[in-house]
Amino acid sequence: MRRTGSDTYGEYFDLLRESPEEQEELLDSMSINVTGFFRNPDVWEGVRDVLRDLSASQHTVHVWSAPCADGREPYSLSMLAHDDRKIDESAVEILATDISDDALETARRGVYEESRTTDIGEELDFLSNYDRYIDRDGECFQVRESVQENVTFERHDLINDPPKSGFDLVVCRNLFIYIDNEYKQTMLETILEALRPDGYLVIGKAETIPPALKSAFSVHDGRLRIYQRDDGL
Ligand SMILES: C[S@@+](CC[C@H](N)C(=O)[O-])C[C@H]1O[C@@H](n2cnc3c(N)ncnc32)[C@H](O)[C@@H]1O
Repeated sequence: MRRTGSDTYGEYFDLLRESPEEQEELLDSMSINVTGFFRNPDVWEGVRDVLRDLSASQHTVHVWSAPCADGREPYSLSMLAHDDRKIDESAVEILATDISDDALETARRGVYEESRTTDIGEELDFLSNYDRYIDRDGECFQVRESVQENVTFERHDLINDPPKSGFDLVVCRNLFIYIDNEYKQTMLETILEALRPDGYLVIGKAETIPPALKSAFSVHDGRLRIYQRDDGL
């Protein structure tokens, strides 16, 4: 309201109704898009094992990173696949989606800058030698094309858009913590449908599966919040 010079809620509401741009701005200011490369490094050791397992047992490994925020999560997946000798990176295809067009624009560029609150170099220290995947120019980090090639970005709303299908691994972290319970279940139903039987799901370390959907998953690693779709067959 301060930015648009609206003095009352009514005035701002009228502006909102007339202006699709303001609707976008409001959505962006409300969606929390904190993220990072290899956020919670211990979880990434678990993800490494899952990718190794999938890579050994089949040809193409389909991964969905949702929500991907500014792209650092799907690029971490791609870098991990490139970095680990037991994972065939050419067989890993990553779909990365988010509701925010701004976040997706940054993600597609693949350029990240260090700031007072973001230590990109430290985030990337999960890899022993990140300069194989990133070109660094001072405080600016550009993800190399070889890493970008495995990732496709697309806008997708986990509450309202149709579900996807055929994924071996869905990484859905740090969204449920901000979402009302009624939507959390809708989102997890969308994700469940997207998973192949026995497909893996990774949620955020502070998140839980809603009680109504617990029986649809078996626990792969409870501490790291890694689950598998379980059709009870
Ligand atoms: C905190 S970030 C999480 C990013 C990443 N998964 C991680 O853990 O670092 C949350 C993201 O959820 C996105 N988001 C919010 N509502 C959404 C929805 N209904 N569908 C898809 N993405 C959504 C926001 O735009 C934001 O980028």
